[in-house]
Amino acid sequence: MATAAVAVLTLLLCLYASQILAQFAVSLTGNTNQRPRPPNDTLCAHLIEPAGYSCSEHTVRTKDGYLLGLQRVSSRTGEIKEERGPPVLLQHGLFMAGDAWFLDSAEQSLGFILADYGFDVWVGNVRGTRWSHGHISLSEKDKEFWDWSWQELALYDLTDMISYVNLITNAKVFVVGHSQGTIMSLVAFTQPDIEDMVEAAALLCPISYLEYITSPFVLRMVNMHLDQMILAMGIHQLNFRSDWGVNLMDSICDGHLDCNDLLTSITGKNCCFNNSRVDFYLEYEPHPSSSKNLRHLFQMIRKGTFSKYDYGFFKNMKLYGQSKPPEFDLGHIPKSLPLWMAYGGNDNLADVTDLQHTLKELPSNPELLYLESYGHVDFILSIDAKKDIYDHMIGFLRSQGKRSSF
Ligand SMILES: *[C@@H]1O[C@H](CO)[C@@H](O)[C@H](O)[C@H]1NC(C)=O
Ligand SMILES: *[C@@H]1O[C@H](CO)[C@@H](O)[C@H](O)[C@H]1NC(C)=O
Repeated sequence: MATAAVAVLTLLLCLYASQILAQFAVSLTGNTNQRPRPPNDTLCAHLIEPAGYSCSEHTVRTKDGYLLGLQRVSSRTGEIKEERGPPVLLQHGLFMAGDAWFLDSAEQSLGFILADYGFDVWVGNVRGTRWSHGHISLSEKDKEFWDWSWQELALYDLTDMISYVNLITNAKVFVVGHSQGTIMSLVAFTQPDIEDMVEAAALLCPISYLEYITSPFVLRMVNMHLDQMILAMGIHQLNFRSDWGVNLMDSICDGHLDCNDLLTSITGKNCCFNNSRVDFYLEYEPHPSSSKNLRHLFQMIRKGTFSKYDYGFFKNMKLYGQSKPPEFDLGHIPKSLPLWMAYGGNDNLADVTDLQHTLKELPSNPELLYLESYGHVDFILSIDAKKDIYDHMIGFLRSQGKRSSF
């Protein structure tokens, strides 16, 4: 979630508090991507090629018609090995996109580090984000375009991206997820035949249950029923990059509120964040998501369940044949699928009690890395993440790999 979440949550809270949400309803749903994009407006061109890495753009079409951008990154040009190492698919979190893995220096950012270690790095971008390319028939202006939650991101976007990488590379894929990317991963891993495609997974801030989330800001919004309010107002796309959103964010952070403190109360205290880079992060974050997704996440917090989207009694009966939405069964994740997890003592979103719940239901015993001082953002943006986390993760991935070439 990281900085993006801060912006979004701040906005929602302040909008609600000042009762001006209605006024902004139209601009909130407004599409900021209407201008035709220049051909070089790609993640490869923005962040990856300028750092000297080779990068190619791919498009994956999901089972329900979304066109997702996927980037393939390998080690700095000139050092490319004859044979690529094993494929790793990076799955970002909520209100972020694939750029999240490349926002710090090449020595600090996981996307670059994995490429330098010889991995064949694939960068996922879920529907609705800047680097994904729309839909075969729907436009971002259609409310149907935004009719999804993390359930579809898991069962369509992530599963279809894994299949694509598996097909192109003809190798089993390592999956790395952060935050919402771990919800998606755990759901995808409950699906049949996943073992044929996935070698192992590394999860940063793993989430399946959100019952014990401690973030005061998130809890306050949940109690205010902001999710229901937004949907009731006909707002389907949550897009905070419109002009008014940027202005409002600036005015909120400029003198009125200490945005560093806000970050702490939402994500937990981040030990190792580079505050002088916030402006740069905000050039890319936040990415849009759907109001329905926010609602589904809030349902998890309210009910303490890890279930499909709750439509209410009658629609649940019609869609699921039962009054309550079916739960995702972590017990279906293959025992033989190697898992590695890193979690933080100061993470207000991925709580340690919830993680213990997840671990109890998993058939296997994942390798665990606990970082007492880490908050939710640190796992992506800590200046010390390489030594604190990524070196351990890479050790795990290499110990699982079947190929000897990396
Ligand atoms: C794309 O091309 C335009 C015009 O040549 C240039 O000004 C811009 O910086 C380029 N953007 C990126 C991300 O490379
Ligand atoms: C923090 O970000 C600034 C601005 O990009 C950069 O100059 C500095 O080297 C970064 N600090 C660390 C410790 O990485």
